[in-house]
Amino acid sequence: MQIKEVARKLNTTPRTIRFYEEKGLITPKKNEGNDYRLFTDEEISRLSTILTLREIGVPIREIKKRLENKNMTMSDYLNIQRSALYEQWIEMKDMITTIDRMIEVEQTDQVKHAINNIYELAQHLKNLKKIRKNWQDKWDFDSWAADFDHYIKRDGHTFNVHQDYDEALNRVINTIELASGETCVDIGTGTGNLGAKLLSKGVHVIGIDQSEQMLMVCKEKHPAIETRKGHFLALPLMDNQVDGIISSYALHHLTDNEKLLALEEMTRVLKSNGQICIADLMFVNKEHRQQMMETYRREGNTEAIYSIEDEYYGDRSKLVDWLMQHDYIVETYQFNNILSMIYAKKK
Ligand SMILES: C[S@@+](CC[C@H](N)C(=O)[O-])C[C@H]1O[C@@H](n2cnc3c(N)ncnc32)[C@H](O)[C@@H]1O
Repeated sequence: MQIKEVARKLNTTPRTIRFYEEKGLITPKKNEGNDYRLFTDEEISRLSTILTLREIGVPIREIKKRLENKNMTMSDYLNIQRSALYEQWIEMKDMITTIDRMIEVEQTDQVKHAINNIYELAQHLKNLKKIRKNWQDKWDFDSWAADFDHYIKRDGHTFNVHQDYDEALNRVINTIELASGETCVDIGTGTGNLGAKLLSKGVHVIGIDQSEQMLMVCKEKHPAIETRKGHFLALPLMDNQVDGIISSYALHHLTDNEKLLALEEMTRVLKSNGQICIADLMFVNKEHRQQMMETYRREGNTEAIYSIEDEYYGDRSKLVDWLMQHDYIVETYQFNNILSMIYAKKK
């Protein structure tokens, strides 16, 4: 097919097609006699992929990178782009909400106070953006994905973070009350071990993870789980979209400040009578952490000290306080010295 026909077929212009050729995204052969470009079916399909990705906002350099990776499917591209757009949307929402509050302050406060209060709101927004942007996967979860399920050791070693793993996952599933047809999101789903336990109850499970490799393993093991690339701090979900939120062994990869922002995100996506159930590595409170760290030091348990300091084991009391202040009824359960469950239901 020649360029004009291709342009007509794909509802674009020959100029746009030539632009993508200049950028090296497509390389159509040229007719030796008249130098006209000739497009094969494969090139037309590649071009339609490029046009689709441009339409949903993927930058050209990203498209080039992604098309070079032959293992990626269209749904992989879409998943990644959806996650990026949600991040932008959430940032925009933060800005709009802040502007609304600034206008309110401007109209109600005295001039001198208004200037200070508006400045404080701007600083709060700056801080929020920083927290959302700063999180990094310093553990490289992509590289764990293939072996993750073998890595979960149930016993042995001087410090076993997965002691009570099975009991914790089962308790989460038995605590959260969801009916068939309801939607539950498993955040930091990894290979889907927790979310999969809800499938037999007829619950629609969305597994969210920042690691694309983890999501690939999850999808392979549990095709019925809908996987979405995304982040605790910018969930790829609309407001009031889900009935339940579950999570296991994931929240302790966020600092204390990040954890509270994650709870805010969960509250945003949860329906009005929604529930949250989290099993994770955490201490009961600050004193409990100190006491446990002293015990490990006295015992010379360097493995425990290293593991705890490499991650951000939570302070359960802070999470519970936040949830109660935000109108949740909260229950807790302690499995062992480092593992707890928090169940929260919106009032
Ligand atoms: C230790 S694995 C636990 C997986 C699974 N929930 C389980 O219990 O078997 C932690 C998972 O959380 C994900 N994770 C960590 N931090 C995250 C974040 N900020 N946003 C989304 N996922 C995150 C990791 O990519 C990883 O897949």
